[in-house]
Amino acid sequence: MRQVPVSEATKRKYPEWIVLVVSRDEKGKPDVMPAGWCMICSGTPPMMAVAVGKTRYTHRCIEQTGEFVLAWAGEGQSELVAYTGSHSGAEVDKFEAMNIATSPPVATNVPLIEGCVAHLECTLHQQVEAGDHSIFVGEVVAAHVPDEPIRKLDNFAGDFAVAEPVKS
Ligand SMILES: Cc1cc2nc3c(=O)[nH]c(=O)nc-3n(C[C@H](O)[C@H](O)[C@H](O)COP(=O)(O)O)c2cc1C
Repeated sequence: MRQVPVSEATKRKYPEWIVLVVSRDEKGKPDVMPAGWCMICSGTPPMMAVAVGKTRYTHRCIEQTGEFVLAWAGEGQSELVAYTGSHSGAEVDKFEAMNIATSPPVATNVPLIEGCVAHLECTLHQQVEAGDHSIFVGEVVAAHVPDEPIRKLDNFAGDFAVAEPVKS
């Protein structure tokens, strides 16, 4: 065993899932950013937690409207993940720029992005300050999956790919 910088230890966590955090600002403009720092944090009631950097436009949107959608990114969404993870909704309408197709939500005003593995509509339950991020804890108020299952995209330290089981 050897002691290393924190960043050297944490980069061993990959592959990591990619969750698209969808929200709207107070004027109704939608935004989306990928997040790896996301987890299921309660079963009853169902709740999710996501760590969002305080400089993100998404941070402002969730604080303003108190709702968001978490959706696991699916096969074929690599370009969407790369673009939405490197541009800010403060400067661009990512839905227009990427021509993102959506379906209507049922319990919030946040759109569901086509091509994701599953969608969880959340209302903000609690905001926990954690250094340079806030942890938004959301109560899941509706869940959706596509009619045909879509394979999940994972983050292999910057390369986005579908993980294949090892076959003997
Ligand atoms: C694969 C991936 C995972 C990311 N994970 C997080 C995360 O967990 N939390 C976070 O605040 N930013 C994360 N980011 C960075 C944001 O997605 C990025 O800063 C984005 O442009 C913010 O958009 P916004 O300003 O429109 O909210 C991630 C980016 C990528 C590409």
